[in-house]
Amino acid sequence: MSDVAERLEELRERGLYRRLRLIEGPQGPRVLLGEREVLLLCSNNYLGLADDRRVREAAAEAALRWGAGAGASRLISGNMEPHRDLERRLAAFKGYEAALLFGSGYLANTGVIAALAGRDQVVFSDELNHASIVDGCRLARAETFVYRHGDLEHLSSGLREAGERAALIVSDGVFSMDGDVAPLAGLSELARRHRCRLMVDEAHATGAIGPGGRGSVAAAGLSGEVDVVVGTLGKALGSYGAYVCADPKTVDLLVNCARPFIFSTAPPPPAVGAATAALGLLEAEPERVERLQANAATLRQALAAAGLDVGRSRTQIVPVEVGAAEATMELCERLLKRGVFAQGIRPPTVPAGSSRLRLTVMATHNPAELREASRLAGEAAGELGLVPSQPIAA
Ligand SMILES: Cc1ncc(COP(=O)(O)O)c(C=O)c1O
Repeated sequence: MSDVAERLEELRERGLYRRLRLIEGPQGPRVLLGEREVLLLCSNNYLGLADDRRVREAAAEAALRWGAGAGASRLISGNMEPHRDLERRLAAFKGYEAALLFGSGYLANTGVIAALAGRDQVVFSDELNHASIVDGCRLARAETFVYRHGDLEHLSSGLREAGERAALIVSDGVFSMDGDVAPLAGLSELARRHRCRLMVDEAHATGAIGPGGRGSVAAAGLSGEVDVVVGTLGKALGSYGAYVCADPKTVDLLVNCARPFIFSTAPPPPAVGAATAALGLLEAEPERVERLQANAATLRQALAAAGLDVGRSRTQIVPVEVGAAEATMELCERLLKRGVFAQGIRPPTVPAGSSRLRLTVMATHNPAELREASRLAGEAAGELGLVPSQPIAA
């Protein structure tokens, strides 16, 4: 027990203690936090589909028709029509021959990497990849070469050194904490040249960038060429679960070897029904993606005008880097007092010394509220001495 107390105390001392906040009601552009309505600027419900009436109704209908849960893993008795239908639709949407659902993006990344890279092989992973990719590399018995963020030269040197042992290059498509886009053309070229697979995690790219929101791989013109594309149903698609797109043989291998797929209950029908409806809405209403992109540009510009540096963000994920963990959380609380909720992000989610507010935009925000939130963020940061006294001109 004392060990637990000591560890919690140590986290507090280092400014890294986390606690849960309680949101009341669905994930809209504004939510109730405690008793108070706040502007929500840290949800991944990018297209407003999690709270869309039609998506919610689809979840309810799937629950009534197929049940609340799948009852077993896919390979036992949990494989149902909704799973198969959604897989077909996701594969078509992404330009792949096959797709496979997983319980979550975390499970997909850990399962796929461990299935595709084994002992005596090497996995190449961008240093800013998501924790689920990092953990996938740890679970795979392969060696991991972590290359500097987006650095093709560094990756190339690692590939040369690994020679025949190179198995897999893996990268976020849109980086989850910085909002920049991976150099996919270069990664693909290196994968071909060194005859290893390329896997791209589209968690924050699907529904946000690329033609009709098809993601970063489609935006780079590489649909079907990147060997494995992972995506989540829990962000722009407003539900829960994840998918992997690949060629049919690779999908077959995953069915047989990806442990989170084999040893976990199939995704629940309401979540699958909701994601299917959300995908239909994304296809039918691509203007949602345009609104998201326009809102993201508005937020980036307004934050810069308030004197805040948004780093290399080019997407709906907009970081305001503070540095120290304590100062980041203080900024978060001051902004919350002003009615804006943008969660502070600290290590180990981001590297030490790069704690930040990670602001995320939704298609359902309106530009005026984004501009006002940016002004308030600049004001709160100014109180903490985090911005130059003269705001940068817009
Ligand atoms: C880049 C990236 N990959 C994967 C995941 C995990 O997806 P899920 O939330 O479906 O487990 C996340 C979630 O935060 C993410 O940001």
